[in-house]
Amino acid sequence: MARIIEIKGRRVWDSRGRPTVEAEVVVGRGTTPLAVGRAIAPAGASTGAGEAKSVEVGQAVRNINTRIRDALRAMSVTDQHALDRRLIELDGSADKSRLGANAMVAVSLACAHAAAASLKKPLWRHLAGERRVGLPVPQIQIFGGGAHARGRVDVQDYMIVCTGAGSFAEALEWTAQVYAAAGARLAKRGALQGVADEGGYWPAFKTNEEALAELVGAIADAGLEPGTDVSIALDIAASQLYRGGSYHFALENRTLSAEQLHAMLLRWIERYPIVSIEDPFAEHDAAAMRAFTKAAGIQVVGDDFFVTNEQKVRNADGACNAVLLKPNQVGTVSETLACWQAARDAGYRGIVSARSGETEDVSIVHLAVGWGVPQLKVGSFSRSERMAKWNEGLRIEEALGAKALPYPARRLFKPR
Ligand code: PGA
Ligand code: ZN
Repeated sequence: MARIIEIKGRRVWDSRGRPTVEAEVVVGRGTTPLAVGRAIAPAGASTGAGEAKSVEVGQAVRNINTRIRDALRAMSVTDQHALDRRLIELDGSADKSRLGANAMVAVSLACAHAAAASLKKPLWRHLAGERRVGLPVPQIQIFGGGAHARGRVDVQDYMIVCTGAGSFAEALEWTAQVYAAAGARLAKRGALQGVADEGGYWPAFKTNEEALAELVGAIADAGLEPGTDVSIALDIAASQLYRGGSYHFALENRTLSAEQLHAMLLRWIERYPIVSIEDPFAEHDAAAMRAFTKAAGIQVVGDDFFVTNEQKVRNADGACNAVLLKPNQVGTVSETLACWQAARDAGYRGIVSARSGETEDVSIVHLAVGWGVPQLKVGSFSRSERMAKWNEGLRIEEALGAKALPYPARRLFKPR
């Protein structure tokens, strides 16, 4: 059995040029090293109030190199639950603020990588065990807004879902065409202002709805059928817009009540081929979420609303019908998996997600495949911290070949 013989933390840099923490876990028999696992903590910008708390990067590195190293050394690397339990006990706080969620998630993921490496398996295969697996359906950002583009538009993510694609590779082919078409349209109108934090275009639109019309135009320009081949997913990230009881849409200089926002989103669903909306209301407003999920008849995703917390999902009572799974929102691999299990128990869908601050780390792609989570959200179709993840998906799809489960896009998103 491979045991942990060394753990090391180091300060590295993320896609926004901000410091973050990397963990390296060395495993072996006796003192002979056998394998190494490595992972880097991501960071959010529109974080939920209920997220596990990170600590300053220097402190996270010190925590890894001292307390965490001492606590996990000599433990079996293949018992992820025991390792994560040890981390949670060692931290001892309700919000991971002693060790830091950044330190914990880097170590937890690095242990998973080291376990897989010690068994000479890719991580997705190690996590899947004997289960048959397949590739998830991507949600890919075309326009970025909200906290990722200094509020240039209010809605945070305008994404596409290639609902008619027959494979992960085909979904990426179509996304490349839509991304190029959207860029060309913006450039032609003089509305292209670079790219936002997750690589989607930073657009100069006059209204939030204009972005929806442009997105439909870009899908058609790419020679694809809106609503059949390619549909739309939104992340409103509404907690960011909520102040003093209402929702502020600064671009349009409008303030909406929860009822007015509900009505506006239903109107958008009627007019545009929208198949998924994330965080349509503020994180505390379960009643508004529940009413919207009931009325919308589409996928409604809780991100800030659930913060990857198993208990919040178990208590949701129909407030959403899908859960965003971000390992650093909760702090460990095992707790992320428990949240996915809670989602399945409730009949909710799952989407593994990156953060707006990312790196070359591709662990989340392995989690989605290995755990059988049928959707994946990692930002746009540019910037290498995003492309690294899409490309890893391509490698896994190739490795699975004919053994892959059927690609689930058409099953999940039947044309309306
Ligand atoms: P964040 O946003 O990573 O900046 O928190 C991503 C999201 O809201 O999905
Ligand atoms: Zn979100």
